[in-house]
Amino acid sequence: MQDRILVTGGAGFIGSNFILQRMQDSSFSITNLDKLTYAGNLRNLESVAGDRRYTFVQGDIGDRKLVSQLLAEQNPTALVHFAAESHVDRSIRGPEDFIRTNVNGTFALLEEARAYWGGLSEEDRSRFRFVHVSTDEVYGSLGPDDRPFSETTPYAPNSPYAASKASSDHLVRAYHHTFGLPTLTTNCSNNYGRFQFPEKLIPLIILNARDGKPLPVYGDGKNVRDWLYVEDHCEAIATVLRKGRPGDTYNVGGWNEKPNIEIVETICDLVDEMAPGNGTSRKELITYVKDRPGHDRRYAMDASKIERELGWRPKETLESGLRKTVRWYLENHDWVAAVTSGSYRQWIATHYSV
Ligand code: NAD
Ligand code: TYD
Repeated sequence: MQDRILVTGGAGFIGSNFILQRMQDSSFSITNLDKLTYAGNLRNLESVAGDRRYTFVQGDIGDRKLVSQLLAEQNPTALVHFAAESHVDRSIRGPEDFIRTNVNGTFALLEEARAYWGGLSEEDRSRFRFVHVSTDEVYGSLGPDDRPFSETTPYAPNSPYAASKASSDHLVRAYHHTFGLPTLTTNCSNNYGRFQFPEKLIPLIILNARDGKPLPVYGDGKNVRDWLYVEDHCEAIATVLRKGRPGDTYNVGGWNEKPNIEIVETICDLVDEMAPGNGTSRKELITYVKDRPGHDRRYAMDASKIERELGWRPKETLESGLRKTVRWYLENHDWVAAVTSGSYRQWIATHYSV
């Protein structure tokens, strides 16, 4: 049976990895609705652009007329919602787009999905799924000895980004509870891998280390994140889509809690090995900079529910995943050159200037 998926935000980091992974299965056809903000990049999807099973539509998830038209035309069996403003630092400098896309945009999608789903045959209605891709940041910050976040941890978002994602999670939950829309939410920890926009820690450090530029570490470098290789995250979403229980939420994580400074030092070693410079270690480029306002100290995920109930567990180790990622950024000059021009330079200049 054919799976027809409407993906939102499929030109971004995780969405494009998800599309490429799913397109390897010939039973999938995918429509990708993406606004192509600074974070969206059609280069990521060049290998499927000519495939009959893939359609790209440039547009905003908040454009209800467009969403309604797409649902009617494409008749999807599922909607997988990635589209978002996703960078915490940008949400601190300018939260408005985060509210517009993450909150109002998700609301628009839910409304249109509800109308579409209500008009389906009984069989199609029971098959339809709305998968909402969210983050561990909705749970707030942990102390050093706190237990990792579980699906029942109360929400306590701290940044405008986290608050906007938390709001969208609540709307998704309400559309299941009130209207019966078959929604599923995944809350995932920090991803890394190919196609991540180099404003985020791992690609930023790889590229600055390559170029001999300072490696900015916020605060004391001891903030802890849990890291998951993006392909594992995409498998988890596919698993939830296939086997998850409508109305449920699933925490997804890598069981890889690390302080930022350790991640940065590991990347330095990998870049030294793969792109030897003038003999000095890239670690000498590490520069402690002013901390992020409201910087969450620690995130940690208890991803045992998805393993127990759906059989998903990450395959990649942090060591092998980081190695692959560093190699990818060092080898893909054209991709890097294209995304680090113009507005990217402006962001880096403004953000790291004080
Ligand atoms: P990203 O910033 O790389 O990509 C976001 C994509 O959404 C871009 O292609 C952009 O053009 C598109 N987009 C933005 N606003 C839009 C709008 N109004 N209409 C249509 N498209 C729009 O983000 P990502 O890192 O791939 O994250 C994808 C999703 O996963 C987000 O919802 C994010 O909250 C969630 N998430 C990310 C991480 C992570 O570590 N990156 C971890 C957990 C959850
Ligand atoms: P980031 O990749 O922005 O993801 P998030 O804020 O969603 O966790 O940041 C990961 C961690 O790295 C976070 O603790 C902030 C820190 N960080 C730095 O120390 N320096 C940087 O230049 C950036 C972008 C992040």
